[in-house]
Amino acid sequence: MRLAKYLAGCGVASRRACEQIIRSGAVTVDGACVTDPARDVDASRRVEVDGRPIGPARGTVVYAINKPAGVVSTASDPQGRPTVVALVPGERRLYPVGRLDAGTTGLILLTDDGELAHRLTHPRFGVEKTYRVRVQRGPVPERALRQLRDGVELDDGLTAPARVRRVSADTLELTIHEGRKRQVRRMCEAVGHRVLALERVRLGPLELGDLRPGAYRQLNAAEVSLLRAAGSAPRTGVSRPAAARAGSGPGRRAADAPRRASGS
Ligand code: URA
Repeated sequence: MRLAKYLAGCGVASRRACEQIIRSGAVTVDGACVTDPARDVDASRRVEVDGRPIGPARGTVVYAINKPAGVVSTASDPQGRPTVVALVPGERRLYPVGRLDAGTTGLILLTDDGELAHRLTHPRFGVEKTYRVRVQRGPVPERALRQLRDGVELDDGLTAPARVRRVSADTLELTIHEGRKRQVRRMCEAVGHRVLALERVRLGPLELGDLRPGAYRQLNAAEVSLLRAAGSAPRTGVSRPAAARAGSGPGRRAADAPRRASGS
């Protein structure tokens, strides 16, 4: 197995981040520094990152969080802003699955399962994300909805067709599967409507549901299986995911004392 994939599977980081860690020279295999992410390894090898032995994960975890505005979706922030990772207390080294802008609220996942994170974020697998968007200058005309559905020309190219549903005069629900930087904000601006509020309400098969801002819960095995299935094959057409609700469990505020999540 490729070294980067092996490290991601052990919960070190996402597969892309593992490639960078390997290239930086932090990884040894049987005592020798390896900088090639494609080096073939298996569990019989002694793999270390910064001198710390790495082995197959003893079972991974996935948490759903309702990210509040102002919280960044990175593991650490040079500007010292609060991070989603800090919302979930515990010993495990978790990292966010993909990114939301600091000002975006809603569903984000944290996991130590690098392979799952890779599959949920890599454009090849085209996992759908749905956003609820409140825009300036409503009502949004039919022409703008059509443009969003057909694809919008952005400075990094034409977007794939989005699914768009009007919720009210100034609020839309947009489903996309690309995940380019600030994509929804740029798409709405391109059709003449600046975004005032943006919330992710679904990621693949998982809905935000009634999880409160700042609350999190551990996903159960059935939900994780649904996520795995969503990222199991390269995207070929439009999929209609079955729904599970991130907020259907009890949900906890980050300030609550840690206790077992009973999302099953
Ligand atoms: N699109 C955006 O513009 N921002 C996000 O945070 C997510 C999707």
